[in-house]
Amino acid sequence: MSMHGAHDGGEPALGLDSFVNPLRLPGRSGTLGVLRAGAGRPLKMAVRPELIEIVPGHPGVAWIYSAEDKKNPVLVVRRGEDFSADITNELDEPTTTHWHGLLVEWSMDGHPSRVIEPGATYRYRFRVRDRSGTYWYHPHPHGRTAAQVAMGLAGLFLVDDEDDERLRNELGLILGETDIPLLLQDKSFDRDGNVLYAPDASAAVMGYEGETILVNYTPKPVLEAASRLYRLRLLNGANARIFRLALTDAGSRRRLPMTLIGTDGGLLEQSQSTQEQFLSPGERADVLVDFRNLEVGATVALVSLGFDPMHREMSHGSAGMHAEHGEGAGSTVPGSEYAVLKIVVASEEVYESTVPERLASLPSADHLPTRSRSFRLSASGDHGTMRWLINDASYRLDAEPLIAERGTVEVWEVHNDELSMPHPMHLHGAPFSMLSRSRSPGQVARLAVDEQGRLATDLGRKDTVLVWPGESVRIAVDFRHPFEGEQRYLFHCHILEHEDAGMMTEILVT
Ligand code: C2O
Ligand code: CU
Ligand code: CU
Repeated sequence: MSMHGAHDGGEPALGLDSFVNPLRLPGRSGTLGVLRAGAGRPLKMAVRPELIEIVPGHPGVAWIYSAEDKKNPVLVVRRGEDFSADITNELDEPTTTHWHGLLVEWSMDGHPSRVIEPGATYRYRFRVRDRSGTYWYHPHPHGRTAAQVAMGLAGLFLVDDEDDERLRNELGLILGETDIPLLLQDKSFDRDGNVLYAPDASAAVMGYEGETILVNYTPKPVLEAASRLYRLRLLNGANARIFRLALTDAGSRRRLPMTLIGTDGGLLEQSQSTQEQFLSPGERADVLVDFRNLEVGATVALVSLGFDPMHREMSHGSAGMHAEHGEGAGSTVPGSEYAVLKIVVASEEVYESTVPERLASLPSADHLPTRSRSFRLSASGDHGTMRWLINDASYRLDAEPLIAERGTVEVWEVHNDELSMPHPMHLHGAPFSMLSRSRSPGQVARLAVDEQGRLATDLGRKDTVLVWPGESVRIAVDFRHPFEGEQRYLFHCHILEHEDAGMMTEILVT
């Protein structure tokens, strides 16, 4: 039965036997403890080094958002509520806190000019106006975002509303049990279990990838599940690693479908069945997985498939476009499949709910765009001096911003050079919707679900979009927000080493 090792280039062995560490889940306390915030409940959080056991048996130092008895708490806020948090910086370097995906005034957005100096406290206060969904928070100081996130600073921010409540009721979903956020990261550790961040020259240009894949701060994680439907809220919180996620029945090596129900900015109008999806740093995907047809004892793997980040397939005709078994033998595609999470169906459950046809309604896009803009992503220099640029420029805190008008919708075309790498482009302060993708590489184009070249993951509200080498994406950017006065928002690559090195630009909304 088993094929591994039998054929040259056969299916990779996933090494699932070594996935023995119980997946850390959001709970009452400790790491990923759930904290009901908002509703006039001001939080006090400290940013500091703390001991946390990520490598089993080796508690080591990481940098952590610490609140009450919780580390990197999962904040839960109801839409419409006022959120407030006093964040004290106990590091010996400046930081800021950015609420990724949430529409907040720029002074509350963790802008790099609004630093929290060592020893100081910043009061973040804003109304949560966003649709229900999976958002997150992390530092954003200029030049040090990559290091601070890599050292451990990141947390989930879940927004709830009637749409989400209805869905959870219909499907019997409970946070931390059957509604499970999965924070995907990769980190490196020293032999004592302390988090290490030491990018070499190549990582500074290509982005830093850690040696150990973590899900919810668990290496080689396993989750015991029942034969029912689960919601997985996937968040890529890695500095630079892109995942190409799929679900495999480990016994038969059959691909299992996932049902995509939400993206960065909350629920889709209608669910989409998918076989795989790319998830780049900063992006979220909300999926349902169904274990009803599996026997008790079955093992399922959430895997990341191999892919070609540099788009080299084009020089080899259509190699890499055939994906019956991921990317097969003899393909030019580098990188092979690896397991991210093992799921064991451990118990039987009678479960009869079905996914509702209609999940939510998206904000109307019938507002006519007032202007268009284009952005070109490119590289300059060579080895030692190489930099990634947006419209040939590198960010400076005092650079002239682009000017946009509050209350308008703009169409942006973002084009990535052919000789480039994939850049996950993220915008603060204005959610966007995807209008089209063109000249996409084959491995992306074959996932298109409509004539505009959009992918299933492009059908919801977005704040981060992965733009592949040679590709152009068009997005409708919504500058309708209620804030008085000038707002300064950032548009940048979410490969954090790129952001820190200046692949960022500022938009002044007037
Ligand atoms: Cu998640 Cu400007 O960042
Ligand atoms: Cu952001
Ligand atoms: Cu980039």
